[in-house]
Order: sequence, then C-alpha cells, then structure tokens
Amino acid sequence: MPLTLEDELGDILQKARDGKSWSQKDLAEAAGLKLDEVRRMERYEWTPPEEIITRLAGVLDLDGPALSAIARNAWHPKPPVADPGLDLVCLNVFMGTYPVKCYLLRCPATNETAVVDTGANPETIIQKAREMKVKPSKIFLTHAHPDHAWGLDLLVKEFKCSTWIDAQEPRPDGTDDFQFVKDGETIALGELNVQVIATPGHTPGGVSYQINQTILSGDTIFAGSMGRANSSWPDLYRSITQTLFSFPDDTALHPGHGPATTVGEEKQHNPFFCGKS
Ligand SMILES: [Fe+2]
Repeated sequence: MPLTLEDELGDILQKARDGKSWSQKDLAEAAGLKLDEVRRMERYEWTPPEEIITRLAGVLDLDGPALSAIARNAWHPKPPVADPGLDLVCLNVFMGTYPVKCYLLRCPATNETAVVDTGANPETIIQKAREMKVKPSKIFLTHAHPDHAWGLDLLVKEFKCSTWIDAQEPRPDGTDDFQFVKDGETIALGELNVQVIATPGHTPGGVSYQINQTILSGDTIFAGSMGRANSSWPDLYRSITQTLFSFPDDTALHPGHGPATTVGEEKQHNPFFCGKS
C-alpha cells in the first residue's frame, strides 16, 4: 500500500491560489464555479468531475492530467532507489495527529550518525538510535517549525551534540549550542559529505541537505505538491524549479511529510511543475 500523499486536491488548490494571491471567491469567479463549490473542494468534501478539474488547472497554471490523477488518488511516486553509500532511516512519527518524518543518517564506513529534524518526537529518535547502537554527533534542522524542531532538549541531553540550522530561522527551544549553516557548505559526517542547499520560501532560512544522490528536503516540496509558502511563494517555487530540479532525475527527495520521491517523478507528475521544467 503506497504511503498517502501529503496533499490532496484541496491543499493543491489552496497553494496554487496562494501563488496568485487569490481568494476562494477569486478562484470561483475565474473558474466559473460557485464559492461554496470551491470551499467544499478545499475542505476535501467534494471531488469535482474531470471537466471542472481541467478548468481549475487551466486558471491556476497547474497541469490538468497531473492534478486529475492526484484528485482521483491514481498517482503515487515510484520510490527512489536506496543509496548503498549511506544508511537513511526514516521515522514516520506524529505531532498530535499530524504525520511528520524525521531521519537518522548514518555513515556506513564510520558509524557516525546525524539526526535530521526532530519530528517533535525525540523519544522515538533516542529509542531508534539505541536500537541501531549509534550516538548521533550532529542534529541537522531543515527549518525551525515545531514539527521539525521540537524536542531538542531531550536529544541534546542524550547525545550531547550541536544543532545545525540556518541563521535566518528562529532559534528553537532546547539548546543554545547552534552552528549556522551556509548555502553550499559541506559538513562531514564520517566519510559522508553533507552539502547544505538553501531552499527558502516555506520559511526564510529553510535548507535541504544533500548527500550523494539523496536530498532531505524538509517542507520545500512534497510528492505531487509543494510546501506552504509561509515566507515567499516565488522563492519557494524557485527553490524547487531552479535548485532541487537542477539535480539529476534519479535524485531521491525525502520530504518532511508524505512519501519519498525523485526529481524525475516530480518533473513528470507534480501538477505545479510538470511541463514547465
Ligand atoms: Fe514546516
């Protein structure tokens, strides 16, 4: 059973409206729909017929067939091929009822390990690290939202390590021991090179971490959708189309929510981007 996508039709419509600074009323008028119909779609209460999905895609600059496939739950990304050069353990956790992903990244040659985002579940990370018999030496944060950064106090107490984050992000609670990342910087993790890639837009200092052909991309892109543009929609769009999509098609993307995907899958099937990159 494939992992459920993070975003449904209603989320995608909201985010595409956001890109145009449109209200629900603006979308209803542009697409020739009733306001209540737009509201019901965005509340996940109504999946419209194909003809309306095509019309919505047209006015929102989305790809019609790709949007339709997601609306009908007919597309899931092909999972990326695991990179034998690194061990990446994905923890599917919850903040309340909201599903989040966080990761343990291990260098197979040296066993040196990093936590990537906390998933607001430090206990789960600590338990998994004990099972793996590793003691992470670094905590990499993609951004400072609580579902990615809450619980640093417990992790730092257990692992006694620094936390890497972009200086433009607010300082998460739980530690004062921060190292500030810079775009293009390489951080060693055993024999692995972890490259920092600035991917702003969801937040001002959002970053992704690239190791070989694997990118941990936080809330920049989701399979079949994009993150919420809390700081800048154009920046977020550029972070995806000009930065993440500059990597080869078989590059794995591991987002903070929803299933893993690849650059190629998103170029072909993401309604925001396919046909445009
Ligand atoms: Fe976030």
